[in-house]
Amino acid sequence: MFVTAIVLAAGSGSRLGSGVPKPLVLINSKPIFIYSLETLCQHPAIDKIIVVASDAFRQELCARIKQYRIRKVTQVVSGGRRRQDSVLNGLRAVEQKDGLVLIHDSARPFIDSKTISAVIKEASHSGAAIVAVAAKATIKEARVSRGKTRVLRTLDRSRLWEAQTPQVFSKELLVQAYKKFARASVTDDSMLAEKLGAVVSVVPGLYSNIKITTPDDVIVAEGFARHLRKMRSI
Ligand code: C5P
Repeated sequence: MFVTAIVLAAGSGSRLGSGVPKPLVLINSKPIFIYSLETLCQHPAIDKIIVVASDAFRQELCARIKQYRIRKVTQVVSGGRRRQDSVLNGLRAVEQKDGLVLIHDSARPFIDSKTISAVIKEASHSGAAIVAVAAKATIKEARVSRGKTRVLRTLDRSRLWEAQTPQVFSKELLVQAYKKFARASVTDDSMLAEKLGAVVSVVPGLYSNIKITTPDDVIVAEGFARHLRKMRSI
Protein backbone atom coordinates (compact mmCIF):
# COMPACT_ATOMS: atom_id res chain seq x y z
CA MET A 1 0.00 0.00 0.00
CA PHE A 2 1.29 3.46 -0.90
CA VAL A 3 2.29 5.44 2.20
CA THR A 4 2.72 9.22 2.22
CA ALA A 5 4.23 10.73 5.35
CA ILE A 6 3.30 14.25 6.41
CA VAL A 7 5.90 15.70 8.77
CA LEU A 8 4.74 18.75 10.71
CA ALA A 9 7.35 21.42 11.25
CA ALA A 10 5.33 24.63 11.17
CA GLY A 11 4.91 25.25 14.89
CA SER A 12 6.42 28.33 16.48
CA GLY A 13 7.88 26.45 19.42
CA SER A 14 7.17 29.41 21.67
CA ARG A 15 7.30 27.23 24.83
CA LEU A 16 10.89 26.38 23.99
CA GLY A 17 11.87 30.05 24.17
CA SER A 18 15.01 29.44 22.12
CA GLY A 19 14.69 32.32 19.65
CA VAL A 20 15.12 29.76 16.86
CA PRO A 21 12.04 27.95 15.48
CA LYS A 22 11.74 24.50 17.09
CA PRO A 23 12.44 22.38 13.98
CA LEU A 24 15.79 24.14 13.60
CA VAL A 25 16.92 23.87 17.21
CA LEU A 26 20.08 21.75 17.29
CA ILE A 27 20.25 18.47 19.20
CA ASN A 28 23.94 17.51 19.20
CA SER A 29 24.57 19.68 16.12
CA LYS A 30 21.63 18.33 14.06
CA PRO A 31 18.29 20.17 13.62
CA ILE A 32 15.42 18.51 15.51
CA PHE A 33 13.30 17.95 12.41
CA ILE A 34 16.06 16.14 10.52
CA TYR A 35 16.10 13.21 13.02
CA SER A 36 12.60 11.90 12.21
CA LEU A 37 12.98 12.76 8.51
CA GLU A 38 16.09 10.54 8.34
CA THR A 39 14.30 7.64 10.04
CA LEU A 40 11.22 7.96 7.81
CA CYS A 41 13.33 8.35 4.68
CA GLN A 42 15.25 5.15 5.45
CA HIS A 43 12.08 3.18 6.12
CA PRO A 44 11.18 0.90 3.18
CA ALA A 45 7.40 1.30 3.67
CA ILE A 46 7.45 5.10 3.27
CA ASP A 47 7.07 6.15 -0.36
CA LYS A 48 6.92 9.95 -0.16
CA ILE A 49 7.35 12.62 2.47
CA ILE A 50 5.60 16.01 2.57
CA VAL A 51 7.04 18.53 5.02
CA VAL A 52 4.83 21.29 6.40
CA ALA A 53 6.80 24.43 7.25
CA SER A 54 6.05 28.01 8.24
CA ASP A 55 6.55 30.50 5.41
CA ALA A 56 9.12 32.43 7.42
CA PHE A 57 11.52 29.46 7.70
CA ARG A 58 10.58 27.46 4.63
CA GLN A 59 13.79 28.29 2.74
CA GLU A 60 15.95 27.41 5.72
CA LEU A 61 14.15 24.06 6.17
CA CYS A 62 14.50 23.31 2.42
CA ALA A 63 18.24 24.01 2.66
CA ARG A 64 18.63 21.57 5.57
CA ILE A 65 16.57 18.89 3.75
CA LYS A 66 18.99 19.20 0.83
CA GLN A 67 22.05 19.25 3.07
CA TYR A 68 21.03 16.01 4.85
CA ARG A 69 19.92 14.41 1.55
CA ILE A 70 16.38 13.51 2.63
CA ARG A 71 15.51 12.27 -0.82
CA LYS A 72 11.93 11.14 -0.23
CA VAL A 73 10.76 14.71 0.48
CA THR A 74 8.79 15.68 -2.61
CA GLN A 75 7.12 18.86 -1.34
CA VAL A 76 7.46 21.46 1.39
CA VAL A 77 4.09 23.13 1.91
CA SER A 78 2.97 26.07 4.04
CA GLY A 79 1.70 25.56 7.57
CA GLY A 80 -1.47 26.92 9.08
CA ARG A 81 -2.38 28.73 12.32
CA ARG A 82 -3.17 25.57 14.30
CA ARG A 83 -1.57 22.13 14.06
CA GLN A 84 -4.70 20.75 12.39
CA ASP A 85 -4.56 23.54 9.74
CA SER A 86 -1.00 22.45 8.96
CA VAL A 87 -2.13 18.81 8.64
CA LEU A 88 -4.92 19.88 6.27
CA ASN A 89 -2.42 21.75 4.07
CA GLY A 90 -0.26 18.63 4.00
CA LEU A 91 -3.25 16.44 3.23
CA ARG A 92 -4.24 18.66 0.28
CA ALA A 93 -0.78 18.04 -1.19
CA VAL A 94 -1.12 14.23 -1.07
CA GLU A 95 -1.45 13.16 -4.69
CA GLN A 96 -2.46 9.52 -4.19
CA LYS A 97 -6.23 9.00 -4.16
CA ASP A 98 -6.05 6.08 -1.75
CA GLY A 99 -3.37 4.42 0.32
CA LEU A 100 -2.24 5.46 3.78
CA VAL A 101 -1.22 8.79 5.25
CA LEU A 102 1.23 8.80 8.16
CA ILE A 103 1.31 11.98 10.23
CA HIS A 104 4.29 12.76 12.41
CA ASP A 105 5.21 15.71 14.64
CA SER A 106 8.79 16.72 13.88
CA ALA A 107 8.99 17.69 17.55
CA ARG A 108 9.38 13.91 18.20
CA PRO A 109 12.87 13.20 16.83
CA PHE A 110 13.34 9.66 18.18
CA ILE A 111 10.77 7.54 16.36
CA ASP A 112 12.12 4.09 15.61
CA SER A 113 11.67 2.01 12.53
CA LYS A 114 10.08 -1.02 14.31
CA THR A 115 7.27 1.16 15.65
CA ILE A 116 6.78 2.77 12.23
CA SER A 117 6.43 -0.71 10.70
CA ALA A 118 3.97 -1.79 13.40
CA VAL A 119 1.68 1.24 13.12
CA ILE A 120 1.64 1.07 9.30
CA LYS A 121 0.84 -2.66 9.41
CA GLU A 122 -2.02 -2.11 11.85
CA ALA A 123 -3.47 0.80 9.83
CA SER A 124 -3.30 -1.21 6.63
CA HIS A 125 -5.73 -3.68 8.29
CA SER A 126 -7.90 -1.36 10.36
CA GLY A 127 -7.69 1.99 8.53
CA ALA A 128 -6.65 3.94 11.63
CA ALA A 129 -3.81 3.34 14.09
CA ILE A 130 -1.83 5.48 16.50
CA VAL A 131 1.35 5.00 18.49
CA ALA A 132 0.87 5.43 22.23
CA VAL A 133 2.46 4.47 25.54
CA ALA A 134 0.71 3.32 28.71
CA ALA A 135 0.42 6.24 31.14
CA LYS A 136 3.10 6.15 33.84
CA ALA A 137 1.78 9.06 35.85
CA THR A 138 -1.37 9.34 37.92
CA ILE A 139 -3.58 11.76 35.99
CA LYS A 140 -6.00 14.11 37.76
CA GLU A 141 -8.81 16.00 36.13
CA ALA A 142 -8.88 19.44 37.74
CA ARG A 143 -10.79 22.68 37.59
CA VAL A 144 -9.54 26.22 38.02
CA SER A 145 -11.83 28.43 40.01
CA ARG A 146 -11.04 31.85 41.52
CA GLY A 147 -7.36 31.35 40.75
CA LYS A 148 -7.17 27.98 42.54
CA THR A 149 -6.77 24.59 40.89
CA ARG A 150 -8.73 21.80 42.54
CA VAL A 151 -8.89 18.08 41.75
CA LEU A 152 -12.22 16.93 40.33
CA ARG A 153 -11.33 13.28 39.96
CA THR A 154 -8.54 10.79 39.39
CA LEU A 155 -8.64 8.91 36.10
CA ASP A 156 -8.14 5.14 36.06
CA ARG A 157 -4.51 4.83 35.05
CA SER A 158 -4.83 1.23 33.91
CA ARG A 159 -6.98 2.44 30.98
CA LEU A 160 -4.95 5.53 30.02
CA TRP A 161 -2.64 5.80 27.04
CA GLU A 162 -0.52 8.78 26.12
CA ALA A 163 -0.91 9.39 22.40
CA GLN A 164 2.20 10.01 20.34
CA THR A 165 2.89 10.23 16.64
CA PRO A 166 3.14 8.65 14.09
CA GLN A 167 -0.59 8.27 13.53
CA VAL A 168 -1.61 6.45 10.35
CA PHE A 169 -4.97 6.53 8.54
CA SER A 170 -6.44 5.55 5.23
CA LYS A 171 -6.43 8.70 3.13
CA GLU A 172 -10.15 8.41 2.51
CA LEU A 173 -10.96 8.32 6.24
CA LEU A 174 -8.67 11.22 7.08
CA VAL A 175 -10.03 13.45 4.30
CA GLN A 176 -13.58 12.68 5.41
CA ALA A 177 -12.76 13.47 9.05
CA TYR A 178 -11.00 16.73 8.20
CA LYS A 179 -13.88 17.81 5.93
CA LYS A 180 -16.64 16.97 8.36
CA PHE A 181 -15.05 18.44 11.48
CA ALA A 182 -13.17 21.39 9.99
CA ARG A 183 -14.33 23.64 12.85
CA ALA A 184 -13.53 21.32 15.73
CA SER A 185 -10.48 22.08 17.82
CA VAL A 186 -8.26 19.04 18.33
CA THR A 187 -4.74 18.24 19.50
CA ASP A 188 -4.15 15.14 17.40
CA ASP A 189 -5.51 13.53 14.24
CA SER A 190 -6.99 10.55 16.01
CA MET A 191 -9.52 12.87 17.69
CA LEU A 192 -11.06 13.67 14.29
CA ALA A 193 -11.16 10.00 13.27
CA GLU A 194 -12.80 9.20 16.64
CA LYS A 195 -15.42 11.92 16.05
CA LEU A 196 -16.21 10.24 12.76
CA GLY A 197 -16.88 7.01 14.65
CA ALA A 198 -13.79 5.20 13.34
CA VAL A 199 -12.22 2.51 15.49
CA VAL A 200 -8.64 3.63 16.12
CA SER A 201 -6.11 0.93 17.03
CA VAL A 202 -3.42 1.59 19.62
CA VAL A 203 0.06 0.34 18.82
CA PRO A 204 2.38 0.39 21.85
CA GLY A 205 5.41 2.58 21.22
CA LEU A 206 8.53 3.58 23.14
CA TYR A 207 8.85 6.05 26.02
CA SER A 208 11.94 7.42 24.28
CA ASN A 209 9.70 8.92 21.55
CA ILE A 210 9.55 12.16 23.53
CA LYS A 211 8.01 15.40 22.34
CA ILE A 212 10.31 18.37 22.62
CA THR A 213 8.26 21.21 24.06
CA THR A 214 10.16 22.96 26.85
CA PRO A 215 13.89 23.72 27.37
CA ASP A 216 14.39 20.75 29.72
CA ASP A 217 13.23 18.40 26.92
CA VAL A 218 16.22 19.58 24.86
CA ILE A 219 18.61 18.47 27.63
CA VAL A 220 16.95 15.03 27.79
CA ALA A 221 17.01 14.78 23.97
CA GLU A 222 20.73 15.57 23.82
CA GLY A 223 21.45 12.76 26.28
CA PHE A 224 19.30 10.33 24.32
CA ALA A 225 20.85 11.33 20.97
CA ARG A 226 24.33 10.67 22.45
CA HIS A 227 23.13 7.26 23.70
CA LEU A 228 21.74 6.38 20.25
CA ARG A 229 24.95 7.38 18.51
CA LYS A 230 26.98 5.20 20.91
CA MET A 231 24.65 2.22 20.41
CA ARG A 232 24.90 2.52 16.60
CA SER A 233 28.68 2.65 16.65
CA ILE A 234 28.98 -0.52 18.79
O1 C5P B 1 1.87 22.68 19.11
P1 C5P B 1 2.26 21.26 19.31
O2 C5P B 1 3.41 21.14 20.28
O3 C5P B 1 1.17 20.31 19.60
O4 C5P B 1 2.89 20.84 17.90
C1 C5P B 1 3.10 19.53 17.52
C2 C5P B 1 3.72 19.51 16.14
O5 C5P B 1 2.87 20.19 15.22
C3 C5P B 1 5.10 20.16 16.04
O6 C5P B 1 5.94 19.31 15.29
C4 C5P B 1 4.82 21.47 15.34
O7 C5P B 1 5.89 21.89 14.50
C5 C5P B 1 3.59 21.13 14.50
N1 C5P B 1 2.73 22.30 14.26
C6 C5P B 1 2.53 22.74 12.95
N2 C5P B 1 1.73 23.82 12.71
C7 C5P B 1 1.15 24.50 13.72
C8 C5P B 1 1.34 24.08 15.05
C9 C5P B 1 2.13 22.96 15.29
O8 C5P B 1 3.08 22.13 12.00
N3 C5P B 1 0.40 25.56 13.45
